[in-house]
Amino acid sequence: MIEPIRVKADSIELLNQLLLPTTEEWVLIQTAEDTAEAIRNMVVRGAPAIGVTAAYGFAMGFRNTVADSESVLRVKKLLLSTRPTAVNLHWAVEHMVQFQKGLIGQDASLAFIRLFSEAKRVHDEDRQMNQTIGRYGLDLFTDKCSYDVLTHCNAGSLATGGYGTALGMIYSLHEAGKLGMVFVDETRPYLQGARLTAYELEKAGINYRVICDNMAASLMRQGKIDAVITGADRIAKNGDTANKIGTYNLAVLCSFHNVPLYIAAPYTTLDRNIADGSEIVIEDRPAHELAWIGDRQIVPDPEKVINPSFDVTPANLIKAIVTNEGVFFHPYRF
Ligand code: MRU
Repeated sequence: MIEPIRVKADSIELLNQLLLPTTEEWVLIQTAEDTAEAIRNMVVRGAPAIGVTAAYGFAMGFRNTVADSESVLRVKKLLLSTRPTAVNLHWAVEHMVQFQKGLIGQDASLAFIRLFSEAKRVHDEDRQMNQTIGRYGLDLFTDKCSYDVLTHCNAGSLATGGYGTALGMIYSLHEAGKLGMVFVDETRPYLQGARLTAYELEKAGINYRVICDNMAASLMRQGKIDAVITGADRIAKNGDTANKIGTYNLAVLCSFHNVPLYIAAPYTTLDRNIADGSEIVIEDRPAHELAWIGDRQIVPDPEKVINPSFDVTPANLIKAIVTNEGVFFHPYRF
């Protein structure tokens, strides 16, 4: 299974997700600045993958320098300034800041080795959590022998430390012999579904069809979708969930057509500091991501677009949230 982060001795390489599916290019990341740029430009994307990358980025911020409170704050701010919605980024950076506190007084090169190893541990933990999510998710699929599912955006191996959350559940269904067809929303405007999810499923030999986002209603009406499974960027204490723009549309359609919507996410996506989704900051992305497709402008005035990257699905529209700590049902008490 393709993974988005390749770990070297004291640096990492990222699979450039901007160039997939046609070109597989690895980008060398050696500093906290490289890391911030790669996250901001979406060379790496997906909430858990951003978090894991930021953990390495934090470590690389202290390769040759002794960390003092000023430099820790600078690196922390730099990484947190990249993308506001995915809470995994905050979780990972805060985790590294706390870990670093235990290294105060150590020689810089030794402290760097320990920071980099801790980032590797965070990375491994994320991969393992996703496999656990996949196993727990199987409990939701016991009525039939084969399920046709729909997914939005990319919540696969590419969006995580490995294996994936929503796609992790889909891989588990496949491994259990219970997967029929995967319908892949192309995911306008940046096409993470068409470019990335389809690429992963192709590599995994899983049966899929890419659909344009506005086809979901019609497929549901024809009874062709047994469940919708997506990932999450931030889940509030009451279960309100931010995920790729268009997830809320799907939730409303699911409710109308009586199709279950399942969200898959590790505990690092839960934000226990916010009561509900109204407190989630939604990232605005640059206009060109919507106004252009590749090198072609598709609207007359690129300034006259709005491009929020995420929306918030109210908890009562989510049938279950599958985490590495178990499956939760509405009303949510994590
Ligand atoms: O803008 P992106 O591509 O980073 O958005 C990704 C998503 O919305 C994913 O569904 C989410 O991060 C979960 S990834 C396991």
